[in-house]
Amino acid sequence: MRIDVHLTPEDLTEGLRADARAGLTATPKSLPPKYFYDAYGSDLFERITDLPEYYPTRAEREILTAHAADIARDTGVKTLVELGSGSSDKTRLLLDALHAQGTLGRFVPLDVSQPALAAATEAIAKDYPDIEVHAIVGDFTRDLDRIPGGGGRMVAFLGSTIGNLEPGERAAFLRELRGALEPGEWLLLGTDLVKDAETLVAAYDDAQGITAEFNVNVLRVLNRSLGADFDLTAFEHVALWDAQHRWIEMRLRAQREMLVHLPALDLSVEFRPGEEMRTEVSAKFDRQTVATELAAAGFALRQWWTDSHDRFGLTLAQATDRPTRR
Ligand code: SAH
Ligand code: AVI
Repeated sequence: MRIDVHLTPEDLTEGLRADARAGLTATPKSLPPKYFYDAYGSDLFERITDLPEYYPTRAEREILTAHAADIARDTGVKTLVELGSGSSDKTRLLLDALHAQGTLGRFVPLDVSQPALAAATEAIAKDYPDIEVHAIVGDFTRDLDRIPGGGGRMVAFLGSTIGNLEPGERAAFLRELRGALEPGEWLLLGTDLVKDAETLVAAYDDAQGITAEFNVNVLRVLNRSLGADFDLTAFEHVALWDAQHRWIEMRLRAQREMLVHLPALDLSVEFRPGEEMRTEVSAKFDRQTVATELAAAGFALRQWWTDSHDRFGLTLAQATDRPTRR
């Protein structure tokens, strides 16, 4: 087992300084979602995946359970790479199928969250002793060139984490990913699907308030990493469906007027009562959009599966001969 650290806690804080300065001085204010995932935030995400309202994880697990053997047979993968791997819980279905087929030699999980990655990597190395586990602490928008080569690779990007990128970032990410792969190598992409607003909003505004706690956690990260003085109790969790952009948006709404200090940035930021700061978008897809976006980046859709309620899509795509130009 090996863990390569290409993103140290200092690098992450450095990124947070730049992103917080840009996002908190913009109108409207926003913060990038990757900062949710400190140890507590990663733990909260795992709790979200068990909530009755949060269907994506169960739906994707259903698809993987039904089709992991097909995926193993069709791809004959030697190295499984997983981006934004988190606990790699569902990924075990793929590891089992690929292992049973006898082709898999290596598993490469990559995540920005060092605590989540370390725990998952240790557990997987223990449970799959004859697979080489080579973990990477990194940012999938920056560190795709750190993925080891060797051919016969499949990149799994599960959970609809691709939906947390905005459209321009998503296109750039897919092009970068295609550039990191050889023709014929594979991408397994999980995407949550467009559906009725009620189901979508409930998934991001659960009755137990775990998603609200996850959302507010980004302020806890700012307080700890940048010495900020956000009052966590003065922000309300907001989840709304934006039908035009076809994404769920999470926001934090200031419940009163505030002046927040960020000494590490030598910055003070005013919030008006009711002002909303965007903390995450979670785009929703359909088959055609996925196929079009993949084709634009140089991937061909080979298989498309959904769960029994058509809530979630899993795409098996293959890198085509030539990556598209920027
Ligand atoms: N793949 C898992 C976890 C999804 S949660 C699942 O399907 O359940 C999103 C994961 O992506 C978290 O573990 C988070 O730490 C990671 N992540 C978020 N932004 C990232 C980035 N820019 N680079 C690498 N990992 C990132
Ligand atoms: C990781 N990502 C795909 C989750 C999502 O559904 O967008 C993060 C999340 N945010 C709120 N709940 C879950």
